[in-house]
Amino acid sequence: MGMQVPVSLKSGHEAIQAGLKRAMAEPGVLGENARTIARIMSGHMLREEKFALRPLGLLKALARGETPAELAEMVKLAQALRIEMPQMIDEHRQIAEALHLLASSAEAAGKPEYVALAEEMLLHAHIEEDVLYPAAVLIGKYAALIRGD
Ligand SMILES: [Fe+2]
Ligand SMILES: [Fe+2]
Repeated sequence: MGMQVPVSLKSGHEAIQAGLKRAMAEPGVLGENARTIARIMSGHMLREEKFALRPLGLLKALARGETPAELAEMVKLAQALRIEMPQMIDEHRQIAEALHLLASSAEAAGKPEYVALAEEMLLHAHIEEDVLYPAAVLIGKYAALIRGD
C-alpha cells in the first residue's frame, strides 16, 4: 500500500467540501462568500493532501517500527513540503479572513449552520498548522534519519 492520505483526514476534507457546497447555493452575500472560500480551498486542499497529508499515511507503520518502502519518496516529499508550506499557511490566512466574512453573513441571514461551518473550518486549519504540518515535517526528517541520508 502506497503513501495515501489517511481516510479519517480525507473524510474531514470531504465534509468541509460538502458544507461549502451547501453554503455556495445560498443566495446573496452568504453564497458569494462561500464561493470565494471554495476557490481558495480547491487548490489548497490538493497541495495539502499531496505534500502534507500523504506522508501522514505512513505514520502508523513508522510508529510500529516498520520501514516502509516509500521512505525515499517521503524524503523528496518533505523537501517539497518545506517549499510549499509558506504558501499553504498564507492560504490559511486568506481562508480565515474569508471565513470571518462567511460567519457574519451567515449570522445576518439567520443561518447558524454556516457560522458553525466557519468555526469548524478555522479549527481545522489550526489543527493542521499546530499538529499535522509539523508531524509531516517530522516524518520527513525521521525518514532521512533512518535512511542515513
Ligand atoms: Fe485541510
Ligand atoms: Fe488547510
